[in-house]
Amino acid sequence: MRIDIITVLPELLKSPFEASILKRAIEADLVEVHFHNLRDFTTDNYKSIDDTQFGGGAGMVMMVEPIDKCISALKAERDYDEVIYMTPDGETLKQGIANQLSLKENIIILCGHYKGVDQRVRDHFITREISIGDYVLSGGELGAAVLCDAIIRLIPGVLGNETSALTDSFQDNLLAPPIYTKPRDYKGWKVPELLFNGNFPEIEKWREEQAYLRTKERRPDLLDE
Ligand code: ADE
Repeated sequence: MRIDIITVLPELLKSPFEASILKRAIEADLVEVHFHNLRDFTTDNYKSIDDTQFGGGAGMVMMVEPIDKCISALKAERDYDEVIYMTPDGETLKQGIANQLSLKENIIILCGHYKGVDQRVRDHFITREISIGDYVLSGGELGAAVLCDAIIRLIPGVLGNETSALTDSFQDNLLAPPIYTKPRDYKGWKVPELLFNGNFPEIEKWREEQAYLRTKERRPDLLDE
């Protein structure tokens, strides 16, 4: 899989890809992540990427031309499955979207800034608009990092234990059950006895029940989906 991220602040985005699981995935060639600085696609001496709104109003708008130049240069090299725009008015990121996107070959992610991008960018280039939640960030970069992390960890081979992504919270619309490790008794705080009985079907049944109870208590909305 290849991800091309278009941004005016590449330095804000790079560090999540330089540590831990994302770094290993890149080093193992399971994913390629490329950063494109929008200012490299400007045509004026000031390297302008934004301007004031037609019709008046506060806030700058990202111009269509540098974005067109950048996306067109990428598209001339390969076909893209999705051109995603990170924006608070997009569809809210859910596990299902990450699952779908992890199966794609090539995606572009455009990070917005200021008031956002000229509507013509959205009309003519963008195939999918994603928000990471109902709050406004100062730019799309942190949202793009969140989206990339959620996608990349699902690519086969990225997680050590292949099955571990399948038992994450939200797969099956359920939160994950409680988990325990050594010691068995810490200051009198005991691990449930059932986990030691060696009866794996029973343990699995307990985990499913716990996942259901936790979901019912914390996120009943998930059970309606
Ligand atoms: N850009 C600004 N706010 C955002 C959000 N909530 N999700 C994605 N991109 C954004």
